[in-house]
Amino acid sequence: MTKANIAVLPGDGIGPEVMEQGLRVLRAAESRFGHNFTLKDGIVGGCAIDEFGTALPDDTLKTCKKSDAVLFGAVGGPKWDDPKAPVRPEQGLLALRKKLNLFANIRPVKVYPQLRDATPLKPENLDGVDMIVIRELTGGLYFGKPKRQWTTSRGRRAVDSMAYSEDEIRRIVRVGFEVAQGRPRKKLTSVDKANVLESSRLWRQIVLEMAPSYPDVNLDHLLVDTCAMHLVRQPARFDVIVTENTFGDILTDETAVLSGSMGMLPSASLNMEEGERGAVGVYEPCHGSAPDIVDQNKANPCGMILSVAMMLRHSLGLEEEARTIETAVEQVLEEGYRTPDIAEDGTESTGTVEMGALIANKVAA
Ligand code: IPM
Ligand code: MG
Repeated sequence: MTKANIAVLPGDGIGPEVMEQGLRVLRAAESRFGHNFTLKDGIVGGCAIDEFGTALPDDTLKTCKKSDAVLFGAVGGPKWDDPKAPVRPEQGLLALRKKLNLFANIRPVKVYPQLRDATPLKPENLDGVDMIVIRELTGGLYFGKPKRQWTTSRGRRAVDSMAYSEDEIRRIVRVGFEVAQGRPRKKLTSVDKANVLESSRLWRQIVLEMAPSYPDVNLDHLLVDTCAMHLVRQPARFDVIVTENTFGDILTDETAVLSGSMGMLPSASLNMEEGERGAVGVYEPCHGSAPDIVDQNKANPCGMILSVAMMLRHSLGLEEEARTIETAVEQVLEEGYRTPDIAEDGTESTGTVEMGALIANKVAA
């Protein structure tokens, strides 16, 4: 039996709806395998701004730090979107990443044979797609200083800084090499913009310096624009991709198209510092708060449910439980159930709650 404390941060938009289904599946796994999970709620994002004036209240951060893992729904929405607002919901997520030192964001991209027709790409191009994108999560444009907007005599100006230190690059690239080593193809693609950016030239140098320590890994380098093209033209060529924060943000929305829908993608944000393997991780779907479909029972809970599976695997070491959930998702798709985002036009779809129940029932069985 495994005992664990799990922080639950549903957030805004469809976050609470998908979280409810994620927890239902978690509870199903807990009772089937005889574990004991203690859940503790935390407020984050726009709803935290409304109540406390900050997107990540201290109490929430404390709850997360005391937990073995954090489940995160989504943050943001039109209510808080004013570009002049002093506080933004997204700051809650970014602060959490920074404060917990979650520099490694793992986004596996899987093509479900059942969803081949849900993608706008040629289905034959999807054969053999199975990749993991490793995105640096606590550096680059998101956090680099200076970062500000100001007014000069010739008008307004703004700056963001894409800054990286050697250590920040090395620790994420190491994760890339190690993850590649653990996979059958052992292939690592490092993505940068070394033809233009100084930070990318440092990135590439470091990757080249580290490569001899991983002789079994087949390494290549791609410029981010070329990578964006290959991801839709020849996605099966990729195995493990490692890249900096902003590039990873953009490329992973693109990879979502391969899976049929943004709603299918889970993610794990981890502190994978050597010797820190037990550190708390945050697990969240990649889709965001989707304000247009809130409270309509239309959201796809699979990304959240698959994030629960990643949590069981990476933070709690429960591989069989994780696989059971992943298999349940596949079975429900196999039986033809589809939330609106993955349903073929004109066909009947399944609601968020029903989808969650179907998956939870399989896990419980
Ligand atoms: C993601 C999201 C976030 C990011 C937003 C919500 C701040 O797009 O996790 O990919 O840009 O990192
Ligand atoms: Mg994103």
